[in-house]
Amino acid sequence: MNSLTIRRPDDWHLHLRDGDMLRAVAPESRHFGRAIIMPNLVPPVVTGAQAASYRDRVIAAGFARPLMTLYLTETTDPTDVVQAHADGIITAVKLYPAGATTNSASGVSNFENVRDVLTAMEAAGVPLCLHGEVTDADIDIFDREARFLDRVLTPLRAAHPDLKLTLEHVTTSEAVDWVRAHPGVGATITVQHLMANRNDMLAGGMRPHFYCLPILKRGTHQTALRQAATSGEAQFFLGTDSAPHPTHAKESACCSAGCFTATHALPLLAHVFEEEDALDRLEGFISLHGPAHYGLPVNDDTITLSKGSHLDFPARIEAYGQSVTLFDPGHPIHWHVVD
Ligand code: DOR
Ligand code: ZN
Repeated sequence: MNSLTIRRPDDWHLHLRDGDMLRAVAPESRHFGRAIIMPNLVPPVVTGAQAASYRDRVIAAGFARPLMTLYLTETTDPTDVVQAHADGIITAVKLYPAGATTNSASGVSNFENVRDVLTAMEAAGVPLCLHGEVTDADIDIFDREARFLDRVLTPLRAAHPDLKLTLEHVTTSEAVDWVRAHPGVGATITVQHLMANRNDMLAGGMRPHFYCLPILKRGTHQTALRQAATSGEAQFFLGTDSAPHPTHAKESACCSAGCFTATHALPLLAHVFEEEDALDRLEGFISLHGPAHYGLPVNDDTITLSKGSHLDFPARIEAYGQSVTLFDPGHPIHWHVVD
C-alpha cells in the first residue's frame, strides 16, 4: 500500500503553550482536525473564564478547533467545572499528580481534596484525563506508572465508576492490561512511545530529545504499546503529547521533559503502522476511536498519506528568537501528508 486516504485525524493530547511559543507551534498541527489542549501553562488554566480566553488565543494563533481542558487543583470549584462543560468551553479536566511533570506544581497531592469535583464531574458527564504516575520519592521513575494503577487508579475507578476516564500517554504493558480490563476507559499513546524505548534514549549516549514523561520504558513495553495501537481496539487512540521546549532547555544539564512531534506525527505513525503490517488500522487509531470515546462525530473531510521519497523534515523550527528541535527517530521515514 503506497497511498492511504482516511478521515482527518485528531490529536487527543497536545501542548501548545502561550504567547510566542503558541504562535510558533500552533500551525504545526494543521493536519489535525481537533486537538485536546493541555492546560499546564504558567500559571495553569484553572477556571472556565481562563479556558475561554486561552481558546481564543489558540484560535488566533492558527489552530481552529481546539478542545479545551481545565487543570484540576485542590481548590477547583465543582460548579465552575460543570458550568464550563455545559457551556461548551471545555471538553475535559486534566489531573496532574503534583510534581509529576512540567508545570504540575499546582496539581493534586491529596485525592480526598478533589472528591467533590470528581463526584460532580461524574454526575454531569465531564471527562477526566489523567497523567498516570505516582510521584513518591521512593518509587523508581520507571515504576511510576505501574504504581499509579494499583495505588491511585484502581481505587479512583471503584469510587467513581461512571466517571469518564482517559489514561493519558500509556507507556507500559501494565497500563495496557489495566485499560483492557476496564471497558469504557480510553488510553492515549504518543508517537515517541511507539517509536522508541529507553535504549534509544540512553544507550551509547544520553539523547535529551527522547526524554519525556512518563519516561520511555524498556523494549517489551514498547512492543505492548505497538500491539495495542495497531490492534484495532477502540480504547486506544492517538494523543501525541507533542510538547515544545526551547532547544536550549532540552540540551541542558537538567533537560526539560517533552518531545516535539506535531510537525511530522502522521508520517511517523504511518511508518510504525506499516512496520506492524497494520496500515488498515491507522484510521481507527488516529481518526475514529478518539471521537467515539469522547462522544463526538468523526471529521467530515479526509487526508491522504503517501509513500515515496525520504521525508525531509526540519531539524528544528524557529520560535521567535528561540528554536524547537523536532523528535528524530534516527532512521529514514518515507511517508508524507499530501497537502
Ligand atoms: O514530557 C512531558 N512533557 N510530559 C508531560 O506530561 C508534560 C509535557 C510538557 O508539558 O512539557
Ligand atoms: Zn502532556
